[in-house]
Amino acid sequence: MVLRITRPDDWHVHLRDGEAMRSVVGATARVFARAVVMPNLGSPVTTVDGASAYRERIAAALPAKSRFAPLMTLYLTDNMAAAEIVRARKSGFIVGVKYYPAGATTNSDSGVTRLERVHAQLAAMEEVGMPLLVHGEVTDPDIDVFDRERYFIDRVMTRILRDFPGLIVVFEHITTREAAEFVADSPARVGATITPHHLLWSRNAMLAGAIRPHYYCLPILKREAHRAALVRAATSGNPKYFLGSDSAPHAKAAKENACGAGGCYSAHATMELYAEAFDAAGALDRLEAFASYHGADFYGLPRNTDTITLERSPWTVPATYPLGEDAIVPLRAGERIAWRVVE
Ligand code: DOR
Ligand code: ZN
Repeated sequence: MVLRITRPDDWHVHLRDGEAMRSVVGATARVFARAVVMPNLGSPVTTVDGASAYRERIAAALPAKSRFAPLMTLYLTDNMAAAEIVRARKSGFIVGVKYYPAGATTNSDSGVTRLERVHAQLAAMEEVGMPLLVHGEVTDPDIDVFDRERYFIDRVMTRILRDFPGLIVVFEHITTREAAEFVADSPARVGATITPHHLLWSRNAMLAGAIRPHYYCLPILKREAHRAALVRAATSGNPKYFLGSDSAPHAKAAKENACGAGGCYSAHATMELYAEAFDAAGALDRLEAFASYHGADFYGLPRNTDTITLERSPWTVPATYPLGEDAIVPLRAGERIAWRVVE
């Protein structure tokens, strides 16, 4: 079976920097026309100049004839100047500002400590039409790690939407039925990305019988009922939901560790994994809109005009890929994937 669809975009990806970036960027650029590049580098991207320099490093790492366009983001901090947001909007290449609650995930130490402290920045974003991209988890130590997204909706997300009624918000990598329903019930200015791993696996994949660190990501995989709700959302045809892989490369040794890093690497097979999830739901006819239309429409960018072809012909994922001088263990390492991108 062959599926030809409009070339997709990845609305949430981690490309890292330096050697690691040079190792992974080709996998994303091969299939996707554009990708929203997360700013959580070791030294976060907090300025337009920093984003511009990072964008040039990415461009320099692309294969010769690549037409891939990185869409850049800024990392919101308590003390970011509102003027930087105005500048970002004018730059034309920065498409969003990322809200990491401080301490929520990889390189989030410089993130937002309290919502009150970014009031001026959110007001500026609302004013100039700059989307806010939200990592939606509370970090309070008394909240169970599996409940962090649910609590974020009640404690933070509802306040953001209430206090900034014109702000465009992407609820990134949603993982729960509550988040999917919240987005469906919100106004049209609220969208959400859904990862392939949250569509394919529940927390059992990570924890049942043995601990499998390559499934550990943040927000963490949830129970099966949530996975099923995410599949229903992604395959519903509702334009609020769109593709964001959250491919997040970490070296093998950083994952297979007594204190392992959060993040699943999927760039080697992003579309193949989504195709599998949509196929299993009997919804392959909905994949194109989710992968290639909804995100572009939400961001007010033109849809791509060329196509890619997916073929149902199984292949075996390598055990590792190179990551600079290290190795990376991809999702499905050493196992079969039913689909492949052939062009
Ligand atoms: O699992 C994750 N990995 N979640 C995030 O929010 C960040 C990402 C990373 O940068 O490794
Ligand atoms: Zn991410």
